[in-house]
Amino acid sequence: MEFVLYEQKGTYAILTINREKALNALNSAVLEELDKTIDGIDLQTVRCLIVTGAGQKSFVAGADIGEMSGLTKAQGEAFGKKGNDVFRKLETLPIPVIAAVNGFALGGGCEISMSCDIRICSDNAVFGQPEVGLGITPGFGGTQRLARLVGAGMAKQMIYTARNIKADEALRIGLVNAVYTQEELLPAAEKMAAGIAKNAPIAVRNCKKAINEGLDMDMDEAIVLEEKLFGACFETEDQRYGMAFFLDKNKEKVKEPFKNC
Ligand code: CAA
Repeated sequence: MEFVLYEQKGTYAILTINREKALNALNSAVLEELDKTIDGIDLQTVRCLIVTGAGQKSFVAGADIGEMSGLTKAQGEAFGKKGNDVFRKLETLPIPVIAAVNGFALGGGCEISMSCDIRICSDNAVFGQPEVGLGITPGFGGTQRLARLVGAGMAKQMIYTARNIKADEALRIGLVNAVYTQEELLPAAEKMAAGIAKNAPIAVRNCKKAINEGLDMDMDEAIVLEEKLFGACFETEDQRYGMAFFLDKNKEKVKEPFKNC
């Protein structure tokens, strides 16, 4: 792969968007490599994914403006679908995904971070949806996910004004969960990923499914979904082991890693 780096580190993996010359802007080739990389994740062994950008300056500076500049209406729609399909694949990946936003997260960059489960960023991060200043709408999910994450009022303000916000404001409005120095960001993401990966993998996946799918349902349906996923955990070895370990009064015993079954 030329534009996407992928490294598995035990039970978690780091995916780096690697087009530093263009501040990791997303053109068709990057999107295709992202798609293939996500398809290739070994879900038997990888329990959490980190997404970040190459270099010190940018996470992803958006969709590629040069590539978009000559598109027709039909091609624009197809390009939107291409990005949306990949981001949806990331959003519905069974394992949790952490965006480690290490700089500019503009347009498609803000949008890919929002298709991740959790966003943390460095203190030089800048978020924004500058599309209307380019004569287009956000096209990789921004009109939908931003409103769901920070509320319609704040999303509309960001999108209509095309004003970028810095890390501290992103934290204040709940777009990111935490801000770190540039040096601390990736270690913090890795620590979080390793912490997630220590927990029972099937239970973690069921939590992701319950939260993501439940948010699109009314509460009566959503709690039934929760009951089913909760019940399904009682068929796992991890549940039997996790509860037996708690109930065992032998304090000398060391907890074994969960087996993912
Ligand atoms: N597309 C294509 N190339 C981009 C790019 C983008 N989104 N963002 C940056 N680049 C390229 C620049 O053209 C430049 O290339 P050259 O060296 O060949 O000239 C290189 O990256 C470095 O960028 P700058 O020289 O502009 O760096 P800077 O530090 O002066 O500015 C920046 C950084 C403020 C992020 C600025 O690059 C910028 O405003 N980029 C565009 C951001 C943007 O508007 N993103 C939204 C795109 S639309 C979108 O994403 C639609 C959608 O929802 C699907």
